[in-house]
Amino acid sequence: MDGKKLKIGIIGLGCIGRGVMELIKENREDILKNSGVDLELAKVCDLQKVDTMGFEYTNDFNEILNDEEIDVVIELIGGTGLAKTIVEGALKKKKNVVTANKALLAKFGKELVPLAKDNGVEINYEASVGGGIPIIEALKNSLVSNKINSIYGIVNGTCNYILTQMRDNKLPFDVALKEAQKKGFAEADPALDINGGDSAHKAIVLGFTSFGIFEELDNIIVEGIEDVSALDMIMANDLGYEIKLLAVLKKEGNEVDIRVHPVMISKEHLLSKVDNELNAIFVEGNFVGPTLFYGKGAGSHPTASAVVSDLVKIINQPGYCGVTEGNLTLKDSGEIETRYYLNMILKDVPGVLAKISKVLGDRNISLMAVSQKEKDKEYVPVIFLTHNAKEKDINAAISDIESLDCVKERPRKIRIVD
Ligand code: HSE
Repeated sequence: MDGKKLKIGIIGLGCIGRGVMELIKENREDILKNSGVDLELAKVCDLQKVDTMGFEYTNDFNEILNDEEIDVVIELIGGTGLAKTIVEGALKKKKNVVTANKALLAKFGKELVPLAKDNGVEINYEASVGGGIPIIEALKNSLVSNKINSIYGIVNGTCNYILTQMRDNKLPFDVALKEAQKKGFAEADPALDINGGDSAHKAIVLGFTSFGIFEELDNIIVEGIEDVSALDMIMANDLGYEIKLLAVLKKEGNEVDIRVHPVMISKEHLLSKVDNELNAIFVEGNFVGPTLFYGKGAGSHPTASAVVSDLVKIINQPGYCGVTEGNLTLKDSGEIETRYYLNMILKDVPGVLAKISKVLGDRNISLMAVSQKEKDKEYVPVIFLTHNAKEKDINAAISDIESLDCVKERPRKIRIVD
């Protein structure tokens, strides 16, 4: 490394790669003036030639990995196959890595973070969660004096956009999804956005960054927004809630509860006011109290902002990849306790509510409110709100209720965040 100059190679020239080239071209001098770090973009790589704005181009990523002068590899190809080969290869050659790849970190963070440490280099990943929002920096540095109690994040702009459009413009789910795709918020495979997978990758990254717990995707609750209905939207509004897809991370003793699912959250909570494609992450530390980080969670320029800041940190904050090594474990999802909204399609005849209440009571679930919106139909939607109940009891009750002949389909639940 030459003084405070960094020689950089980018692999992957999609929307974020283009943003990084633009940013370095436009702000290189200011960055040098403000941070003392000179960012020299030495080579850029993609399989297909795109406009590389005058930067040297190659279609062979090995040219970057084997270039002894290159100090940092920016991995922006996404996925967990070739991206892993590239990141691993770069770290083993003692090159620093900057990546926006949350899927890669969620699956292989457990190997890659220590690999960086062992090779005395950095793996920086600010852009992997919340796009341009400096949440990783906040968790690793600015809030390092705290014990983090909880993190609640709206970390998928596509879902937040869809839910906002469903609420405000009464759009059906599919139309709102198409709009989100047109605006470029969605992943190449939008299934990952709407089924909660993308948020789950980010939850896992937040989990190892703040709690030192490298959790596996299969061990956490991941539910998407596909089943949120127009009636749920109306009921949420009537009850004083917004529906949001949240990544939840909560420390309880030596355990961390990590999950991703739609929630009903009070209209009074700041997170409920975060609309459309915007992201926000609410973090509570034991000394700082509640904090909120808000901004654009996707897009070429916001994400490039995070990637390029990560480059500067390689020089100005070495050791930045030092994740806390804790002794925390994942909380058993069945033991999670919260309030629930239950939406059941029931036969509108005498005795049905009594049967449902009995199942819930037998499973130790106490009701707070019941509401029936429609009438004069054979089956009608009936909404139940519960007091705090355990996830395992609710799931068992839902299965019991599904088998009753007065029920049309499996009841659906939305957890309530108080
Ligand atoms: N597809 C993601 C979102 C953007 O909708 O938020 C990048 O993580």
